[in-house]
Amino acid sequence: MNDLESFEKKTVGEILTWALKEFHPQIALASSFGAEDVALIDMMVKIHPKSRVFTLDTGRLPQETYDLMDEIREKYKIQIETYFPDTAAVEKMVNQKGYNLFYQSVENRKECCGVRKVEPLKRALKGLKAWITGLRREQSVTRTGVAKVEVDQDHGGIYKINPLADWTRQQVWDYIKKNAVPYNKLHDKGYLSIGCDPCTRAVKTGEDERAGRWWWERPDQKECGLHARR
Ligand code: ADX
Ligand code: SF4
Repeated sequence: MNDLESFEKKTVGEILTWALKEFHPQIALASSFGAEDVALIDMMVKIHPKSRVFTLDTGRLPQETYDLMDEIREKYKIQIETYFPDTAAVEKMVNQKGYNLFYQSVENRKECCGVRKVEPLKRALKGLKAWITGLRREQSVTRTGVAKVEVDQDHGGIYKINPLADWTRQQVWDYIKKNAVPYNKLHDKGYLSIGCDPCTRAVKTGEDERAGRWWWERPDQKECGLHARR
């Protein structure tokens, strides 16, 4: 395990099999139920039916995401471990800065992501030895350096496993279609990457895959803090 480089040659299946054997039950997938995450859920449950999945429910998700969460729960018979933001922190932020503070400045947007995602993530990772994400290098300029297996110094040195790091969007969708994996209906309406409802929109043909996320910000600023800048 010292040679993290060696994971780069491994397939998604090999990485997930190794990771679940090595760390379950102290390993979980962080899922926002985007295309990558639902593909990973399908793969993980086939390897280990009791695979753990958690989600950070910001309180601002689109209805379509909640619909999908219930569909996944039902189909795979898994519990979705849900983390909500700290109530007092949300109340304070909204009372001071309004409901739609994120449109006003990058600082406000990061504050909202901090309260609604980053702090709950810290709680979700407590007690875990490893977490799995759906990050792909191709997704954006901020993600080109994602490794398949890395040590997450931002979260106490646990393993962060990104099995799809070198996959293309097409590969993800081929998997979803071939395995009849349930997916977010917003994808059929031109949404490529899906996050909170007020901060996500559909993209036009040819636009970058994360162009619909925080579309009013510069591409190199578009990380919410769940994934440190590489
Ligand atoms: S984000 O950081 O800009 O929101 P993105 O939507 O591309 O990230 O998702 C990248 C990965 O981060 C997902 O595959 C998932 O592993 C994790 N992730 C993002 N949002 C959440 C969430 N709300 N709950 C759990 N995991 C999430
Ligand atoms: Fe807040 Fe938007 Fe970040 Fe969601 S994506 S936590 S609504 S700023």
